[in-house]
Amino acid sequence: MSTGRIVAGALAPHPPHLVYAENPPQNEPRSEGGWEVLRWGYERLRKDLAKTDYDVILVHSPHWKTRTGNHLLAVPQLSGLSVDPIFPNLFRYTFDMKVDVELAKAIHAEGQARKLEMSLMENPEFRVDYGTIISCHLANPAWDKPIVAVSSNSTYFDFSNEMGQDEMARLGEATRAAIEQTGRKALLLASCSLSHRHFTTESELPEDMSKEHITHHGQYLWDMRVIELMKQGRTRELMDILPDFTEQAISETKDGSLAWLLAALDYPSFPAEVYGYGSVIGTGNAVVGWIQSIGTANVANSR
Ligand SMILES: [Fe+2]
Repeated sequence: MSTGRIVAGALAPHPPHLVYAENPPQNEPRSEGGWEVLRWGYERLRKDLAKTDYDVILVHSPHWKTRTGNHLLAVPQLSGLSVDPIFPNLFRYTFDMKVDVELAKAIHAEGQARKLEMSLMENPEFRVDYGTIISCHLANPAWDKPIVAVSSNSTYFDFSNEMGQDEMARLGEATRAAIEQTGRKALLLASCSLSHRHFTTESELPEDMSKEHITHHGQYLWDMRVIELMKQGRTRELMDILPDFTEQAISETKDGSLAWLLAALDYPSFPAEVYGYGSVIGTGNAVVGWIQSIGTANVANSR
């Protein structure tokens, strides 16, 4: 019997601006472009993913917030209209997606075996959040693969960053075990920004790039420190400093997506590929890939 595995993981941030700027048919508002460095970063990620054989996308989203425990989409087909509550002017997206329910149920069981609070979301009318949709759209605009979406629980907020991270480490492990057991070749997406201090007003034309910059230098310095650790394959060290980064950079990593991804990948020691870095309404965002076939080949060549 073939064993499943995670073939690639990516930090795949979800500012709605990036989908708005691409003008796909599913999104109602029209734009004149903007945020090209990040969008070109996603283009390069997609080129590398096209060389990688995978059959399901798993995404952990900060905007599917669940009060108790970790929830998983478990309806075979979901469709509807998803609107960003903060930026309804930029994101009103008609979604239509398939869900890998068998894999979702396997993660549910593996999570429970690790004493995690787990739930399956079985409401066929469920409106999928914009974090899930945007990361999946930008990684795979064809939507030709089923997904499994994972919610963000409130442990970081109710207890501490350290406790939240500990749960994400176990959820990542459970995710990996379920993928292996079901024989899937999986792509994992952590749908989050890095530094997350943002402007409180929007320019008249959202895509006016003369107005875009990181909110302040301290946030930039934190982002660069974190990205450098990714580039050097020092992901265990990254996990060690992540609680402080989360606090001081007001980072969206507080929802657990990045910790879940690194744990699921079993803390990769090969250098990550940084496809792009840029700010969106002042937040820091990086598109970063850990593609097993490329990363491990690079390490072998450098020996
Ligand atoms: Fe967000």
